[in-house]
Amino acid sequence: MQKKVFFTNSGAESVECAIKIARKFYFSKGQLNRNRIISFEGSFHGRTMGTISAAGSRKLLEGFGPSLPGFDLVKRFSIDSVEKKISKKTCAILVEPILGEGGIITLPCAFLKGLKNLCKKYNLLLIFDEVQSGIGRSGHFLAHEYCEVSPDIVALAKGLGNGFPIGACLATKLVADCMVPGTHGSTYGGNPLGCAVALETTKHIMKPKFLSSIRKKGDFFKEKLSSLIDLFPEQILEVRGRGLMLGLKCVSKNVEIIDMCRKEKLLLVPGASNTLRILPPLTISYKEIEEGFDRLKQALLKMR
Ligand SMILES: Cc1ncc(COP(=O)(O)O)c(C=O)c1O
Repeated sequence: MQKKVFFTNSGAESVECAIKIARKFYFSKGQLNRNRIISFEGSFHGRTMGTISAAGSRKLLEGFGPSLPGFDLVKRFSIDSVEKKISKKTCAILVEPILGEGGIITLPCAFLKGLKNLCKKYNLLLIFDEVQSGIGRSGHFLAHEYCEVSPDIVALAKGLGNGFPIGACLATKLVADCMVPGTHGSTYGGNPLGCAVALETTKHIMKPKFLSSIRKKGDFFKEKLSSLIDLFPEQILEVRGRGLMLGLKCVSKNVEIIDMCRKEKLLLVPGASNTLRILPPLTISYKEIEEGFDRLKQALLKMR
């Protein structure tokens, strides 16, 4: 499907752009009240007013209220719950195919396909926030490719610039055509340096051999991590994720494990509902995976 792109400077800006496109699409068709977006509790879409309102999290909104209207939050990842929220005013569904900050929750393909079917049934746009899961992180260039579900709009950033700040909002040509000159813009969005960096990065990451190496290393790492459930049942409950976007659901406090890991010179990040996020560089070697795993094991042993 032919796509258009708007370059941004960050993930939150890419999601903001996605929200604007979804609303403008129906506005340009004369459906002026069709502007509500269904989003999910426990998600993370950035820290601008629009994106914290879309996530609806009390923690993110604390001190910054009131949240912006226009979002209908669904509590559970169930198609029935989503369908119940759809009204004549709904224009889009916004979701992360793999929740990052939310605790590395890999949404089943059946669920993503179910969302696509709802979008077809009610004529809604499907927005995937792939700021964290995109650009090879899951072992596929975009995580949703694994499920063969095609969204109308995709938000990207993070890995796109391999450390350099650049984001992108992709949309099908049909949808993006509502954004005519003057409707959206950014001084530094699409700056030549950022685009040159993103071009080099994506050239490398999109290579099938590189993507398959991420999948293989991810499987190797996941298998090793799975052994922790038997070795440390009092600390580790579950291994989550796909590719090199991995997570551990913990029994003991995730931040305490992270502190102990730091003492072992291993950097991990926390996720919601007491999870640890493991997001190594995509170029990590098998030897480094083993070393990282040994350090994690050492940290867990010292906590006994
Ligand atoms: C899924 C998701 N969306 C949006 C964002 C916001 O990106 P940025 O921090 O670049 O604004 C993040 C950042 O962690 C993210 O994980």
